[in-house]
Amino acid sequence: MLRTVAALAACMAGRDGGTGHVTMCDRRPAASRHTVSLAINFQLSETALSSLDLRRLRQNEHVRALTREVHVQLDQLIQPLFVAEAITHPEPVPGLTGVHQESSESLLRQVERDLKAGVTKFLLFGVPRARAERQIDWSFTASQVRALKARFGRDIWLATDVCLCSSTPHGHCGVLNAEGDHLDNDASVAELVQAALAYAQAGADCVAPSDMMDGRVGAIRTALDGAGLERTILMSYAVKFHSTLYGPFRLAADSAPKSGAALKDRASYQLDPARPNDAWLCAERDAAEGADILMVKPGLPYLDLLRELSRAIRKPWAVYHVSGEFAALEALVAQGLADRAALHREILIAFRRAGASMIITYGARFACDWLAT
Ligand code: PBG
Ligand code: ZN
Repeated sequence: MLRTVAALAACMAGRDGGTGHVTMCDRRPAASRHTVSLAINFQLSETALSSLDLRRLRQNEHVRALTREVHVQLDQLIQPLFVAEAITHPEPVPGLTGVHQESSESLLRQVERDLKAGVTKFLLFGVPRARAERQIDWSFTASQVRALKARFGRDIWLATDVCLCSSTPHGHCGVLNAEGDHLDNDASVAELVQAALAYAQAGADCVAPSDMMDGRVGAIRTALDGAGLERTILMSYAVKFHSTLYGPFRLAADSAPKSGAALKDRASYQLDPARPNDAWLCAERDAAEGADILMVKPGLPYLDLLRELSRAIRKPWAVYHVSGEFAALEALVAQGLADRAALHREILIAFRRAGASMIITYGARFACDWLAT
C-alpha cells in the first residue's frame, strides 16, 4: 500500500514538473530507461513499480479496438422465429420490439428481410392450431421447416425447437400422468423423438429439445442416426432454469401452463436456480448422450455457470438471452433511460466474455445497428 502511494506521488510530480510535458511512470529499472527520462525532472525510485499507466490503452478508439479481446459478430447470432397456424397476419409479441408471431406467409417475408439485414441463423418455434395429450401431430411445424428450406436452402441455418408445450392442451413440456401432477418421462421422450424426426426429415439443420426430460438427448440422437439423419445437429437446452423471465415467450408460443392441472408450473422439470450442481450434472449428461451444442438459459442471471461450464466442457456453448431479459432492456429504452444499441452491445459482449460461441437473441435482426461502433 505504501509503495502504491509513493508511486502515485512520483507520477503526479512528473506531470506537474513544470516541463510542459505529460510524462508517464516508467516502471523499468533506472539503468534501462532511455532519454525519455530527460523530460522527467524527478528520479523514479525503485519502489515505483506499481502499474499506474493502465489508462494509456483506453485513450482513443484506435487503441481500444487494437486491445479488445472479445468480439461479437453478426454470424454468431441466432434469431428466434414464431409461426402460428391460426393467424393470417403477423401479430406483435408484447414486450419484444420487432418480434411477431408470424403466419406461414409472413414468416417467409420476415426471413427474407432478415437475410437482407445479414441474419442467417434462426431458431423456429411452431404453434399448431390443434393440441393433443399424446401422439401429437408435428406436421404444421414440419411444413414450415420444409417451406423455409425450399425457399432459402443453404442460405439459412435453421434450428427447430423441440418441445410439447405449444402442442399440449395443458401447456406443459411433456405428457402429464393420470393424476395430473407429474410429467411421464418416457411417454414425453417418445413424443419428443417423433417431433425431432419430423423436423429433421423436413430439412432442419438442427433440432433443439427444450423440454428438460431425462434421456431425451440420447433418444433423439439414436432415432436420428437410425433414420439416416446423422448430419442433423442436436443442440440441447441442457442448463435451462425454472425462471420468471419467460413471460413474453409464452404469449408468443402460446405455451403457458394452463390452470386446471395439479401441476401448476415447470419447477418439477426445469432447473432450480439455487442448484448449480444440477447444472453440471445436466451438462455432463447431455454432452455424454451426444449433444453437439449445449446451452445455458436464461443468460444474464446465469453468466457464472456459462463461464465455468464453457471452460470445463469443451463443446460449443450457446446462450439464450430470453424474452424477459430482452423485454426488460426494451423497457429501459422505452423510458428513455438507456441507449438501445449500447445496451445490447454490452450484453452481447458479456455473453461472449463468459464463453458463449453463439447467442440466441430476439434482436439479432437489429444487430447491424447494435454492433456498429
Ligand atoms: C419452452 C420454452 C421456453 C423458452 C423456450 N422454449 C420457456 C418455457 O419454459 O416456458 C423460453 C424462451 C424465452 O423466454 O425467450 N419449452
Ligand atoms: Zn416446452
